Amino acid sequence: MIFNNLKETKRFLKKFTKDLKSELQKKKRVILLFQGHLGAGKTTFIKEIGKNLGIKSIVKSPTFIIWQIYPFRLNNLNYSLHHIDLYRIDAKTLLKLNFKKKIKEKNNIFAIEWGEKLEAYLKRKKIKFKKLHLEKIGKKRKLIISSY
Ligand SMILES: Nc1ncnc2c1ncn2[C@@H]1O[C@H](COP(=O)(O)OP(=O)(O)OP(=O)(O)O)[C@@H](O)[C@H]1O
Ligand SMILES: [Mg+2]
Repeated sequence: MIFNNLKETKRFLKKFTKDLKSELQKKKRVILLFQGHLGAGKTTFIKEIGKNLGIKSIVKSPTFIIWQIYPFRLNNLNYSLHHIDLYRIDAKTLLKLNFKKKIKEKNNIFAIEWGEKLEAYLKRKKIKFKKLHLEKIGKKRKLIISSY
């Protein structure tokens, strides 16, 4: 998929978030691994998804925090969006931060930047995830989604 600008990306993310909500209600947990170079648009994607989920505080939240948790409601149930950025840490460090336990809990979305660092662990544990590979091409963005 190619997005020519932010507006097109946002339009896509409206639909993407809708599908994400259905998946969350069916499967109880969704893991999104974001892969892409510096500035590819990973944070922008996640914040936009958060906004679409009704999380207002995500817009102004700082981006340098490793793990941020945003509660939201969906059909009168409580859920959380976990925004994790693995730029400065490796999977080993994350796994020490209570992640092993959290990842098994229900009613969570995990959106993880530099998610490729966690891929081997999830595969080993047979935990399903989606990989969103973002690439910046000039001003455009290319997205490839694969499911594991
Ligand atoms: N889909 C898009 N279309 C146009 N511009 C975008 C898009 N996504 C992000 N940008 C712009 O690109 C810049 C970098 O975006 P962002 O911080 O989301 O990237 P990132 O992949 O999270 O970077 P980092 O690797 O530093 O975490 C921002 O200025 C943002 O406005
Ligand atoms: Mg980022």
